[in-house]
Amino acid sequence: MTTMGFIGSGAIGSTIARLAVEAGHQVVLSNSRGPGTLADTVAELGPRASAATSEEAAAAGDIVVVTVPVKAFPHLPAAPLAGKTVIDTCNYGPERDGPILELDNNSLTSSELLVRYLSDAMIVKAFNNIFFKHLLSLPRQAEAGDRSFLPIAGDSAPAKAAVTVFIESIGYSVLDAGPPADSWRQATDTPVWGTPYGPYSNEKGQPAGEDAIRTALAAATR
Ligand SMILES: NC(=O)c1ccc[n+]([C@@H]2O[C@H](COP(=O)([O-])OP(=O)(O)OC[C@H]3O[C@@H](n4cnc5c(N)ncnc54)[C@H](OP(=O)(O)O)[C@@H]3O)[C@@H](O)[C@H]2O)c1
Repeated sequence: MTTMGFIGSGAIGSTIARLAVEAGHQVVLSNSRGPGTLADTVAELGPRASAATSEEAAAAGDIVVVTVPVKAFPHLPAAPLAGKTVIDTCNYGPERDGPILELDNNSLTSSELLVRYLSDAMIVKAFNNIFFKHLLSLPRQAEAGDRSFLPIAGDSAPAKAAVTVFIESIGYSVLDAGPPADSWRQATDTPVWGTPYGPYSNEKGQPAGEDAIRTALAAATR
């Protein structure tokens, strides 16, 4: 059993939390408006879930999921995340986040930008390329023939190993997509972003195996 902290508990954060609870993990949720606003979500998730401030969720998590708009990166609690494994689900969208020069000119990936704010954390990009409804419907047992794969990117081998164990526990397999500098291959609008798991119009999604994810990552251009 792992305690998962969540900074951000919106569409994708609460979906990961739901899968984590179903797999037997504890979850500590947070958002920008305070724990009281998460009461309904916590009640729905049951006794393995609680709500806290972002600082408390960061401190509580064995692994912490940062799942916020990129424009919120400057407001993340860096001190309690020092030394922790952090999952970065975030995608940059200038229409939502406003223009960010280093992302617009491709001098940084959004994960490398996050490293600037959380320099003492061990960041692993994951879950950013799958629609939350597909994430909810595509978990499969390890022995299933149609298990889906998720790419992960990061610098820390121990952090990647911890994230792999977590992702495996919630019904997915993992494909190592390299360091944060290579995570542009799984960023918004690349071939591996959304498409392999089916159209948004089909909420059930379609399983995407290792070959499909590897091929999509290799087809990315910048
Ligand atoms: N939706 C998807 O299917 C999907 C899939 C993969 C990746 N992503 C990416 O994952 C990230 C989250 O997406 P989402 O769709 O879950 O967004 P969302 O539904 O809008 O939720 C965003 C969450 O971030 C919280 N937040 C914002 N600023 C914060 C701060 N300073 N401190 C703590 N929490 C803060 C919000 O809290 P409040 O509500 O209290 O403001 C909310 O809980 C985005 O970068 C997105 O591009 C989304």
